Amino acid sequence: MARPDPARLVPGGTLDELVLPAEVSVVPARGAGSRLWDVDGREYLDFTLGGGSLLLGHAPPAVAAAVAAQAARGSAFAMLSEPLLALAERVVAAVPCAEQVVFTATGAEATYVALRLARAATGRARVLKFEGGYHGFHDVGTLGVPASPAPGISPAVRAEILVARFNDVDGTAARLDAERDALAAVIVEPFQRVVAPRPGFLEMLRDRTRRHGIVLIFDEVVTGFRFDWRGAQGLTGVTPDLATYGKVLGGGYPLAAVAGPRRLLELASPRGGPAAFSGSQHGNAVAAAAGLATLEALGRPGAFERLRELTAAAGDVLQSAVAQAGVDGRVVVLGPVWHLCPLVRGRGPFEDHDASLPADPERARRVIDALAVELTRQGVLAFPRPGRGYVRGYLSLAHTEADLRALGERVREALRRGRVSACLSG
Ligand SMILES: Cc1ncc(COP(=O)(O)O)c(C=O)c1O
Repeated sequence: MARPDPARLVPGGTLDELVLPAEVSVVPARGAGSRLWDVDGREYLDFTLGGGSLLLGHAPPAVAAAVAAQAARGSAFAMLSEPLLALAERVVAAVPCAEQVVFTATGAEATYVALRLARAATGRARVLKFEGGYHGFHDVGTLGVPASPAPGISPAVRAEILVARFNDVDGTAARLDAERDALAAVIVEPFQRVVAPRPGFLEMLRDRTRRHGIVLIFDEVVTGFRFDWRGAQGLTGVTPDLATYGKVLGGGYPLAAVAGPRRLLELASPRGGPAAFSGSQHGNAVAAAAGLATLEALGRPGAFERLRELTAAAGDVLQSAVAQAGVDGRVVVLGPVWHLCPLVRGRGPFEDHDASLPADPERARRVIDALAVELTRQGVLAFPRPGRGYVRGYLSLAHTEADLRALGERVREALRRGRVSACLSG
C-alpha cells in the first residue's frame, strides 16, 4: 500500500516540534540509544530526542521493561498508582521547593496549573514573564514578545500578561514594585535557552516576589532532572515557590508535574481545593513507570558527571567545527543542550534575549534552513530554529564521544557546503 502523504493529512505535513525544510522529510520508524532510523531506512544521530524528553536516549532497556511490565498490569486508572507515588517521593526528595506534587500529562498543562494556583493563592490576575521565554502552547505560555499580534489569543488574556527582559535586574524590579498589587505570578525559565541568568537576577526575583506576595514559578520543564538532579534550583541556590517539570520526568511518555509547598499545592486538592483540576491522563501509570525508571537511572552515582563530560565535549567539537569551517558562529551549551548560532561572533551564552536575536533575521533564516537541510542529509537530526537564529540539540546519556566527534565532522562539512556557505557569505 502506498505510504500516506503527510501534507494531505496534517497541516504543514509535520508535527510542530521538529519543522524541517520541506525538501527533507523524516518519518521515524524506530529509535535506539542515540540513533533514529526513518521509514526509508536512513540512519540519523539524533539530537532531537523527543523534544528533549529522552535523557537516556531512545528506548533504554530499563525504561522499555518498566513500561511493558506496567502496560501488562494496566495503564490508565485516573487514580494514584504505585509507580506514581514512588515518582512523587523522588521529586519531593530531589526538588528544594517541593513538599508536594501534582501531576499533569504535558509541560504546558503544568505551567497552566502553576499559574492557576498562583492566581488562587493571591486573588490577583496578572502574570509577568520574560521575552524569549516559552512555557507551552497555551495563551500565557506562548506569548513572548510584547508588541506582536497574537492571532487566536484573547485580548483579555493578553492584557494580563506583562513581559519583562530576562537579566534586566533594575527594570524588572521596578515593574514588580509598580505592579505589586496586580501580579499573581512571575514565571521564568531559570536558564532561558541561550541566555544564562546573570548573578543577582534570580535572587532579585526571589527577594521582590517574596516581599510583594507574588508567587515565583520556575519553569523547569527543560532544566528539571537534566541540568542537575535538583534542577536549576540546585544549580543556582534560588528556591522558587512553585516549579514545573515535564520532558525528562516522563522518560519519553506524557507526564509532567508541578511541585511546591503544601500551602500552595493544597489549593489543588480534589477534596474541595479552590483550584482543583483533573485530567483523564494525568499521572498515567505507564508514563509514571517510565518516569520512575528514568529517574532511577539518573539517580545512580556518576550520571550527572557523565552528562557534564558529554556537555563539555559537545561544546569543544562544535567550537572546533566552526573554527575549521572558517565561518562566524557561536556555540552556546547550557546544561546538556547545545546551540549553534551561525553568523554570530563571540563565545558562550548571550547577555539577554535581544542580544541573542539575529541581526539580519532574513539572512539568519536562510542560513538555518540551509544548515538544517545539510545536517539532515548528513544524518544529524537537530532542531532548526530559524526565527531564533540557531540550531538546537539535546544530549543524552546514550551519546558517546564518538557520536560527538561525528557531530563535529558533520557540522563542519555542512557549514562548508555550497548552499550553506553561500548564505553565510551573503
Ligand atoms: C521551558 C518549557 N516549558 C514548557 C514547555 C511545554 O512542555 P510540553 O511541550 O510538554 O507541553 C516547554 C516545551 O518545550 C518548554 O521548553
